Amino acid sequence: MSNRYGTLAAWVYHVDKPIGHSFGDIEFYRERLAGCEGPILEPAVGNGRAIIPLIESGCDVVGFDTSADMLDFCRKECAARGLKPSLSVQSFESFEYDRKFEAIIIPAGSFQLITEATVARSVLCRFQRALSPGARLIVDLDPISSFVTPGARVRHWQVGDDVLTLQEARAETDFVRQTTVSQLRYEHWRSGQLVSVELDLFSLRWWGIVEFELALREAGFTEIVISGDYRHGLMPKSDVRSITFEARIPE
Ligand SMILES: C[S@@+](CC[C@H](N)C(=O)[O-])C[C@H]1O[C@@H](n2cnc3c(N)ncnc32)[C@H](O)[C@@H]1O
Repeated sequence: MSNRYGTLAAWVYHVDKPIGHSFGDIEFYRERLAGCEGPILEPAVGNGRAIIPLIESGCDVVGFDTSADMLDFCRKECAARGLKPSLSVQSFESFEYDRKFEAIIIPAGSFQLITEATVARSVLCRFQRALSPGARLIVDLDPISSFVTPGARVRHWQVGDDVLTLQEARAETDFVRQTTVSQLRYEHWRSGQLVSVELDLFSLRWWGIVEFELALREAGFTEIVISGDYRHGLMPKSDVRSITFEARIPE
């Protein structure tokens, strides 16, 4: 029941972060991938928020995700635009392709859904093996500051006659494993009646900047560039909202 992105979670994600909704990341990835001719992989592709605008800009991107519900949104949105990227149900921990990629991109902090440090380090090695010589990995991480405040939030969305609600409450913070667990309660209401409820335990791991840089080096990456808030090469400041690591496989 952890990080499932089930039916209601996927619906809320798609309403809250529709195709092309940008945190500044889509423009940044588009610029960083300009001229990248080979295939690009987006693990944890989700509803297609990022992959679809990148494909529409001319990038050859494929994706995978563990959530069939998220992939359903992605497939429908691709079909509506006449796009047919390869999309599959696979996980960070065990994905396989019979070709190598010129780039792997992981926007929106999705890498932090891997909560065991040892697993995360082996996933970095898996990324390394999936890339061609000279190819790049680009990963966004949320800063530690975003984990400090145990944010309890209640939100809702009106979708035609339906109302979707999300209640979030921090349940645990483990300062040794560098993880948080939040309880997410999704509800679907129609005409004042509760239609369905979904619960998820949502777990994330935070990384220090130097810690992640060392993990990338350990996995065989070099030429690491760290950027704050999607300004390439500008080292993050303490009020940064997103940190991007770009790293290369040696030629
Ligand atoms: C924050 S969403 C990001 C979606 C999309 N990449 C974007 O930028 O909008 C995180 C996605 O990670 C997926 N996910 C969670 N655990 C995963 C895993 N172990 N392997 C692959 N995908 C996973 C979820 O199903 C969800 O679609």
